[in-house]
Amino acid sequence: MNIIVTGGAGFIGSNFVFHMLKAHPDYRIICLDKLTYAGNLSTLEPVMDNPNFRFVKADICDKEAVDKLFEEEKPDVVVNFAAESHVDRSIENPQVFLETNIIGTSVLMDACRKHGIKRYHQVSTDEVYGDLPLDRPDLFFTEQTPIHTSSPYSSSKAGADLLVLAYHRTFGLPVTISRCSNNYGPYHFPEKLIPLMIIRALHDESLPVYGDGLNVRDWLYVEDHCKAIDLIIHKGKVGEVYNVGGHNEMANIDIVKLILKELGKSEDLITYVTDRAGHDRRYAIDPTKIHNDLGWLPETKFADGIVKTIKWYLDNEAWWQPIISGEYQNYYEKMYGDK
Ligand code: NAD
Ligand code: DAU
Repeated sequence: MNIIVTGGAGFIGSNFVFHMLKAHPDYRIICLDKLTYAGNLSTLEPVMDNPNFRFVKADICDKEAVDKLFEEEKPDVVVNFAAESHVDRSIENPQVFLETNIIGTSVLMDACRKHGIKRYHQVSTDEVYGDLPLDRPDLFFTEQTPIHTSSPYSSSKAGADLLVLAYHRTFGLPVTISRCSNNYGPYHFPEKLIPLMIIRALHDESLPVYGDGLNVRDWLYVEDHCKAIDLIIHKGKVGEVYNVGGHNEMANIDIVKLILKELGKSEDLITYVTDRAGHDRRYAIDPTKIHNDLGWLPETKFADGIVKTIKWYLDNEAWWQPIISGEYQNYYEKMYGDK
């Protein structure tokens, strides 16, 4: 089986590449990634020499490059992780979110139509459902919850989801969509809450908590998300949406305090800052469908996953230090400049 994984140099995509090469040693995995600020080729170093792995630097919006890759690799499956993924950046500059997240998705699906494909899988997010109130813990996002977005990021992801379902209905493209809650784990880019707080706490820097810190996210260890996608592409039903989440809701402030405790740092580092515009209050996934239909259940408990994650950041300063300093942006040039 030949699988194109777009966005495989980012956080979840790279974890998925590692998972697939390990779980299916006979599959060929081709990673297509533009290496934006969020893509880091050094993450993929452990698999660069694997004969079943190929890295291609390209933009999913670039029709010619995508077409050429499909021509060369004749993929059976495409899993699209490539996206602009950070809500705060989408508030600063929405345009690139529309280009990559919506136009990029259409370019990939057009190539799938042209070349034929067994499955196109779109990696989406629970953010397409908007948010839930804090005082209604009985409410959860199901696959039937109406799309109701808050940020340019979530709107661009919702736009892409609608397009994916339209390509299924109009052109019969064999698609699936997964909508997952917040992931955490190794290789998480340090602009996101958990790695940002770990790294700033290690440097005894202030920890910027937005608003009152009571916003709730439903955290899932990244490996569990990768296993869910693996199941969906093999056993999921074409045309279906699957919610992925672990019933692990936590307020931001509690996560920050937990990180401080694990690192033996003072809560005096916590600084409440101006809230994110349009800040979603609570996310909570109901994963009943993927459990009942595909037998998926999260395997890593948050108490274990967060300790593993903190340890990973302590042990892998060589990965995040160049990111903090901006040095990693020269990495591709250094590695591939004269090739
Ligand atoms: P990330 O920002 O860490 O990585 C994104 C990757 O996509 C990077 O490697 C980047 O270089 C690449 N990319 C960006 N634009 C591209 C383009 N035009 N062409 C080719 N490659 C491009 O993101 P992530 O957190 O790993 O998220 C991956 C996917 O999962 C996204 O689609 C996101 O919406 C979705 N998702 C993320 C989470 C989460 O908690 N992080 C949860 C649910 C869904
Ligand atoms: O729910 C899935 C989504 O999770 C994905 O679709 C997104 O790609 C991913 O980035 C993530 O979005 P969030 O906005 O929830 O993640 P972030 O890490 O940016 O923020 C988590 C919470 O922490 C959120 O309520 C905002 C808050 N926060 C974040 C940062 C960066 C802070 O309080 N301070 C911060 O400095």
